[in-house]
Formats: sequence, C-alpha cells, structure tokens
Amino acid sequence: MVRIGLIGTGAIGQDHLRRMTRVLAGATVTAITDVDAEVAKRVAEGLPGATVHATGEDLVADPAVDAVVVCSWGPTHEQYVLAAIAAGKQVFCEKPLATTEEACRRIVAAEVAAGRKLVQVGYMRRYDAAYRTLKAAVDSGEIGAPLMMHCAHRNAGVPGFYEKESIITDTAVHEIDMVRWLFGEEITAARVLVPRRNRNGGDLQDPLLLLLETAGGALIDVELSVNIRYGYDIRGEVIGEDGTAELGTQAEVVVRSGGRVASPVPLDWRERFARAYDVELQEWLDTVAAGLPPAGPSAWDGYAAAVVSDASVAALRTGERVEITLMDRPALYTG
Ligand SMILES: NC(=O)c1ccc[n+]([C@@H]2O[C@H](COP(=O)([O-])OP(=O)(O)OC[C@H]3O[C@@H](n4cnc5c(N)ncnc54)[C@H](O)[C@@H]3O)[C@@H](O)[C@H]2O)c1
Repeated sequence: MVRIGLIGTGAIGQDHLRRMTRVLAGATVTAITDVDAEVAKRVAEGLPGATVHATGEDLVADPAVDAVVVCSWGPTHEQYVLAAIAAGKQVFCEKPLATTEEACRRIVAAEVAAGRKLVQVGYMRRYDAAYRTLKAAVDSGEIGAPLMMHCAHRNAGVPGFYEKESIITDTAVHEIDMVRWLFGEEITAARVLVPRRNRNGGDLQDPLLLLLETAGGALIDVELSVNIRYGYDIRGEVIGEDGTAELGTQAEVVVRSGGRVASPVPLDWRERFARAYDVELQEWLDTVAAGLPPAGPSAWDGYAAAVVSDASVAALRTGERVEITLMDRPALYTG
C-alpha cells in the first residue's frame, strides 16, 4: 500500500480521493490538508484514521506519507512540489506544474539536483483511450506525415478561480501538452486570434483561436470556448499527407427518434476523462509502489507547457506572433 498525502481537497482533490479510495488498487490516503480548514475537516469525515494537517509542508514531512498528490490552486503548486523533492518523496502534481516559467525552472533545477525523477504532472489526456488511439494512428504512418491539427476545447462554464488569462493558462495548456506529446515535437511559436465575444463570458475574452507551430513545421489551431453552455466537448483531427485521424464521439448510445439523432454530451472533465484519470493515477501508484521513477508527464513537460502557455498569453496581449525557445533539456529528461 502506498500511503498518500493529499494537498487541496477541492473539486479534483475530492475526485482523486474518491478514485484512490474506491476505484484504484494499492493506495491508502493517510493525510490531507486544505487552506480551507472547514473543507478539509468535512472531507476527513469520510477518511477514518487520516491526519488533517495545518499546512502542506507539515503533510509532506509526515512519516506516514510515502508520496504526495497536489490538487491545490496552480500558484501554490511550486512550494509543495519543492517540499516533496526536498523530502525525497514522489509527487503527483495536478496541472499546471507551476504558473510561471521561473517557478517551473526552479522545480526542474531541484529535481536535477536530486539526481532522480520524483515529479509527475497531471496531463491526463496522454492516458485517454481515444487520444492514445489517435496517436497510434498517426504514429502508424497510415495517414502519412501529420501536417496540421484542428482542436476544439469547449467548456459549459468556468470555475470560480478563473481569471482573464486562465483560458490559456488553465484550459489551453491541455492542448499544449497534448500537441507536444502527439507530434513528438516542441512548439516553437504561438499566435492568438480574437473574435467577437460570447455574451455568456462577461468580461472574459471568450472564445479564442490559438495557433501553434511546431519545430517540424506543423500548424495546430485550437478553438477555446469556455462558456458555451451545452456541455464539455473536446475535439481533435490530425490532417496528414494521405488522410486524417479524428477523435470519435464518446457517446455509448445514440438515439434516433422524431426525425432527430441524439447522443449525450459530457457535462465536464470529470465525466469525459474519468477513465483517463483512473489509468493515469493507477500507473503512477504502481511506479511508486515498485520504487520506480514516474513514467508520465515529467517536470520537463510541465516546464515546456508553461513556457508555451506564457508565450500564448503574450500573443493574446500583443496580438503578435510570439516565438518560443526552451532552455537546454537536462540529461535527466532525455531518453
Ligand atoms: N487535469 C485536469 O483535467 C484538471 C481538472 C480540474 C482541475 N485541475 C487542476 O487542479 C487544481 C485544483 O483545481 P480544482 O478545480 O480542484 O479547484 P478547487 O478550487 O475546486 O479546489 C482547490 C482546493 O485547493 C485549496 N487550496 C488553495 N490553496 C491552497 C494551499 N495553499 N494549500 C492547500 N490547499 C489549498 C482550496 O481551498 C480548494 O479547496 C488546479 O491546478 C487545476 O488546474 C486539473
């Protein structure tokens, strides 16, 4: 049993808690903390025997915690990930790894100094069956070399912590990581086009069209619509030299009646990516239990996504095409 300490018991913290205690094998949650003590207390009622810590640092230091899961707000991730690295404990950190390039660099530097990988970042699309099949289709060569990709990221609405640029830093980061993984190339430039606004978004510039270029010259467009009400809809189609490969619809049942074809749309990410989160956390738990380094998205991936995210924010602010350069990749993250 891997003894887990959970930092942040909000929406995804509670969802991961449910899966670690009720769905997955090999985990026991021995400690939790949340800056909102009331929330932590309420969540602890369902966890007999777990310690409620006053701070994330106390939780990391708890000898009854083997590994840490960070589900607090993005700007607080760095301090807890650094604390876990300093304690030599593996840490699964929800995306984003951190909210600035500098913070991500500090995490990469700390891990390199520790001399081993301890960090995995929660970019769960890499574990989604549909995305894995899409990548396999592209990698097989069946559609020829991939040249372009059309993506859509549509949310029914946005969470309370959402700010003006969260549409890039919180939402588009999933496509940023997915594109790096699917194309196997770094992203080298970003542009943002701004259409007229959705009245549902208030002051938010919503929707946006993000354009990404890869090192090999592929072009990716991402439609970001985060107050589109009808549901959570994630789309992707890769355009190759000889054909295309596209994510299918996720519906298990399609109803035809009264002159219409109808299938349900997921309400949010919990529903759409439920299995992906299960696979992601189970694989992470298995590597922790086996004493192996994490095999999923690394601190380097978290850093690269943050740099592209920063560049995309700059592109949104300026209306310009922004070029992206990463630092040299440390040997820890090659191969
Ligand atoms: N992988 C995904 O698809 C996915 C989905 C949702 C959220 N997330 C990420 O998970 C994180 C949390 O998102 P959420 O939707 O659960 O937010 P949330 O607001 O529902 O929950 C966050 C919790 O963290 C607590 N918190 C804030 N600062 C803290 C601190 N310093 N120490 C301890 N606890 C603290 C808050 O009180 C809150 O209970 C964000 O980084 C978000 O981007 C990832």
